Amino acid sequence: METLVTLCKRRGFVFQSSEIYGGYAGFFDFGPLGAELKRNLKAAWWDDMVHRRDDIVGLDSSIIMHPSIWKASGHVDGFADPMVDCKASKKRYRADQLFFAPVVVDGETIGYVSVEEKGGMEAEAAEKAADLKRKLARQGELAPLVLRDYTEANPEEYALIPSPATGKPGSLTAPRQFNLMFETKVGPLADAAATAYLRPETAQGIFQNYKNVVDTGRVKIPFGIAQIGKAFRNEITPRNFVFRSREFEQMEMEYFIDPDEETWPRAYRYWIDWCMDWLKSIGIPGEMLSEDVHPQEKLSHYSKGTTDIMFAFPFGVQELWGIACRGDFDLTQHQKHSGKSMEFFDETRKQAGKEPFRYVPHVVEPALGVDRLFLAVLTAAYREDEVPNEKGQPEKRVVLSLHPRLAPYKAAVFPLLKNKPELVEKARALYEQLRRRWSVDWDVAGAIGRRYRRQDEIGTPFGITVDFDTIEKDNAVTIRDRDTTEQVRVPLDGVEAWLAGRLG
Ligand code: GLY
Repeated sequence: METLVTLCKRRGFVFQSSEIYGGYAGFFDFGPLGAELKRNLKAAWWDDMVHRRDDIVGLDSSIIMHPSIWKASGHVDGFADPMVDCKASKKRYRADQLFFAPVVVDGETIGYVSVEEKGGMEAEAAEKAADLKRKLARQGELAPLVLRDYTEANPEEYALIPSPATGKPGSLTAPRQFNLMFETKVGPLADAAATAYLRPETAQGIFQNYKNVVDTGRVKIPFGIAQIGKAFRNEITPRNFVFRSREFEQMEMEYFIDPDEETWPRAYRYWIDWCMDWLKSIGIPGEMLSEDVHPQEKLSHYSKGTTDIMFAFPFGVQELWGIACRGDFDLTQHQKHSGKSMEFFDETRKQAGKEPFRYVPHVVEPALGVDRLFLAVLTAAYREDEVPNEKGQPEKRVVLSLHPRLAPYKAAVFPLLKNKPELVEKARALYEQLRRRWSVDWDVAGAIGRRYRRQDEIGTPFGITVDFDTIEKDNAVTIRDRDTTEQVRVPLDGVEAWLAGRLG
């Protein structure tokens, strides 16, 4: 993970927000190359989800919406994580990420240990248990530790579990529910009635516009509404780089279906498969992906069934894309709270004589975080290998094997030497021609091998060099492939078509 974070900083993909003020936990900025990669991810999703389908339309709703929406959706009352405070250190933990275990020697509990959830926490807890036994000078056999998270602690254990910050018991509070929505005030009066929320999901912007889309578009069930936009969650412990941040971007689609009992399982499976295939189509290897079906007792308040597509991140296998069957929960809630009918009149069913003709649609929702996808794509693309340098000796390089659709630059153009005007002029003309169509980089600095290496590291699929043969012999250029490092000679006037054939 450290390697990726360093690369992201060094090459301008991701910066810590407010860095000159010491940073701001849970917020990130996307640098010049990160902004391009993010744009490309969103454009690929929008193209495939909206433009290339007949049944899905787009939407761009406001971030701050009527507070009643969040009451109706259940977020005001239920969108919370359990937290626990350490009164001594003032540190705050997510209770379900704080693990503890009694330390048992020869059948007797001699104290407790605690650790924050992370890879290797079992070993850390075992070490702390051995330390405690040594400190208390206890002889005998240490029983294997059984770690539980703090939400599973008995109230009498709260005072016995040490804070991970101080190592001492007595300072941890009981778990409390902490609502993750950011509050703000709207209008000139900063009283309670002015309280509004930054949206914690884009989905509700879709539900509250469902009627508008039905009334103004020519949509027929089944149909979907897709949206890309920022969402905000006041995470207790933002962590794992851009994986869990407080401000993030979502790509969500609500697919409205009829209420027949056999419809939603079909749509559910269809969207899980579609999402899996889409991830593979943008270059994520199937073996890094898996499905996690939520057990009934872990489903969100609105869900009849949820499957997460999981990805093997450097810090473990974690959720990337959630496909949730929300039933008619959201539209029914908005119907109740707003007093406006959310029923759809289904002409097709009417003609077929299939009741009901009028119903509140059900929904299947694939919800994907752009920032998580960004991290997944970089993780999958990152590799280190060896290629021969100009002298034919093997040299280490870092490569981002990004799918050409996603690469910040599709190609880079280099004049072999920067102080030969005839080379520079020809290369510059090619660069100007290509950048009318694609995002293309220009680099004149350093040896050509170093320039290739710089482009490899940021995932540019093709390096194009204008050399002396171009002007003296063949009016052709060398195009080097990032992944294979193979080079081909392509006539100058055929470069655009050559690239188009590979980039689309
Ligand atoms: N709309 C579901 C989510 O935000 O995760």
